[in-house]
Amino acid sequence: MRSRTLLAALCLSLLPVSAAYFGLTGKEGLTHLPSLGPSTNPAQGKAHLKQCDLLKLSRKQKRLCQREPGLAETLRDAVRLSVMECQYQFLGERWNCSLDGRTSLLKRGLKETAFLYAVSSAALTHSLARACSAGRMERCTCDDSPDLENRKAWQWGVCGDNLKYSTKFLKKFLGQKKIGKDLRAKVDIHNTNVGIKAVKNGLKTTCKCHGVSGSCAVRTCWKQLSPFHETGRILKLRYDDAVKILSATNDAVGHSELVGTQRHSHSHSSPATPRPTDLVYVEDSPSFCRPSKYSLGTAGRTCSREASCDGLCCGRGYNTQSRMVTFSCHCQVRWCCYVECQQCMQEEVIYSCKQ
Ligand SMILES: *[C@@H]1O[C@H](CO)[C@@H](O)[C@H](O)[C@H]1NC(C)=O
Repeated sequence: MRSRTLLAALCLSLLPVSAAYFGLTGKEGLTHLPSLGPSTNPAQGKAHLKQCDLLKLSRKQKRLCQREPGLAETLRDAVRLSVMECQYQFLGERWNCSLDGRTSLLKRGLKETAFLYAVSSAALTHSLARACSAGRMERCTCDDSPDLENRKAWQWGVCGDNLKYSTKFLKKFLGQKKIGKDLRAKVDIHNTNVGIKAVKNGLKTTCKCHGVSGSCAVRTCWKQLSPFHETGRILKLRYDDAVKILSATNDAVGHSELVGTQRHSHSHSSPATPRPTDLVYVEDSPSFCRPSKYSLGTAGRTCSREASCDGLCCGRGYNTQSRMVTFSCHCQVRWCCYVECQQCMQEEVIYSCKQ
């Protein structure tokens, strides 16, 4: 499966840059990643060719990467963005989107797998569109949708995010035409498309008026992506409401539909087709409470006594640790012109899940 190659690589590929970014040591069991030693990247004339070599790509993807300066950098942006957003959205959850166990997770068809696919493809779509409008890619420029006054927008130096190009390119890049036969492949493709759609749905048209005292004699409009946090938030909601898939209909034409359970378990109507915006999964998730091949478990995780300790610690209880922290207090402005503060001490209590 082509589409699996890239997204799995995206979900996994941690180049040194992003590893450093997330405070990782590099010993997180990432041996399946392309080695970054000098032996794997023969000195190429152009820097971007070398960059393409560092990414885990299929042959066709590598060719596209080499043909498009700026793409490798954009792919790396997408990796950073998706890892950061996933960890942000799952900060207080038992599965916190850490990199440990990700390889095992991606082999399964869990809700978490669904989220990883969606957030990765969303990050790719977003980063590609941004790279286009920022002029970091040679083959695409500003948004060129015919319904907008783009020529005017250009005159005013406003550039829309080019989502049309980015989606088209992404589909080519992922080779989505080859729909796999097995259920898992269909599920992965569905979730990938949920991610792309989430970015698309967040596209807003922004307009600005020009003219004498706001008369709006001339109006320029352009398309703008929502901040990626917004997309991440929506995908997290979709994760919370993900639909379990029972089977796929078999269609001779090669087009099949996923058959899911009802969204709400209390309704007893017949199985339904998931909506294009639903994240879908095939297996129930483990609890993520204890160390497993999917996660490190929740021992040692800090929690909030009021809000999250009970759930996060899986009923094992939590340790309480207090420490003194100093901070500035009783600050006064002195004539003239400085602020005088005292140092106060305060006890800070930290709760963390027991073993
Ligand atoms: C996730 O939880 C593990 C412990 O289970 C912890 O070691 C790790 O730092 C956490 N990662 C993030 C990104 O919060």
